[in-house]
Amino acid sequence: MKAIEISNLVKTFAGKKRTLVSALQGISMDIGQGEVFGFLGPNGAGKSTTIKCLMGLIKPTAGSATIMGEPIGSVASRMNVGFLPENPAFYDYLSAEEYLLFVGSTFGMDKTLLAQRTEETLNLLELQDARKRPMRGYSKGMVQRVGLAQTLIHDPAVYILDEPMSGLDPIGRALVKDIILGLKKRGKSVFFSTHITDDVEKVCDRVAVINKGQLQVVDSVENILQRGVEGYTVCFVTSDGSKEELVIDKSALQGVIQLAVEQGKKIEKIEPRRKDMEAFFLEIVAQ
Ligand SMILES: Nc1ncnc2c1ncn2[C@@H]1O[C@H](COP(=O)(O)OP(=O)(O)O)[C@@H](O)[C@H]1O
Ligand SMILES: [Mg+2]
Repeated sequence: MKAIEISNLVKTFAGKKRTLVSALQGISMDIGQGEVFGFLGPNGAGKSTTIKCLMGLIKPTAGSATIMGEPIGSVASRMNVGFLPENPAFYDYLSAEEYLLFVGSTFGMDKTLLAQRTEETLNLLELQDARKRPMRGYSKGMVQRVGLAQTLIHDPAVYILDEPMSGLDPIGRALVKDIILGLKKRGKSVFFSTHITDDVEKVCDRVAVINKGQLQVVDSVENILQRGVEGYTVCFVTSDGSKEELVIDKSALQGVIQLAVEQGKKIEKIEPRRKDMEAFFLEIVAQ
């Protein structure tokens, strides 16, 4: 069973003056159990629309999807999910602690377990100092961390996070990446959207790029990086001991190695020069 399976999902909104906005034009993909999957696309690409469909917040115009085998829109499909919406806003008269206790109780968690999980989660998200204060006094970064905390409280198998790193400073972003990697280690499935390529390179197994409601590519991060190899930097040590560096095209590697051997140079290292995820992303989106 896949963690998430999306089949030909279509969503059309009514736009201004009787126009239609084609937000999703039939997207299909699946996310395996234990996989960290990045959903990458520029603003307006259709990321939040996809996620809202998955969470049953809006109804797709056509197509279907399941979460852990349960059809979207059903209570069963949501029970095993931690969901972070795009711009989380909470009852701001509650403290983080009260809010987590509330969320846990809606999942029917046992009181003792809930108290223990609340403690752990507040510590993990570095909210322990603010735990008793009403959230109205929290910074944007703190609210975002509460948003993440409430996805973790019932220890679900699947995490659907809409731009989890947004509004966070570099330390906050690193914390979120660590949390995602921690979830992966524990065999959890994570599906998260972002418009920042750097976020996916470090943590994802696979990435889907969406633009204008259509999937442009679904591939492993490794393959994407491999596809982007443009050439190599070759470092030699010549017979008199001096070092040389040569920047060459992808196709020239074999010839350069042969020549080096013939000239008695020692190859010290060969480093691929690749387009990074950012360049790859820009190329796809420009198509
Ligand atoms: N409720 C809505 N009514 C009309 N158009 C919408 C609505 N929600 C989203 N859209 C449009 O659908 C497209 C995709 O939006 P969205 O999924 O929010 O993009 P992303 O999350 O990738 O930035 C955009 O063109 C947006 O304007
Ligand atoms: Mg969005």
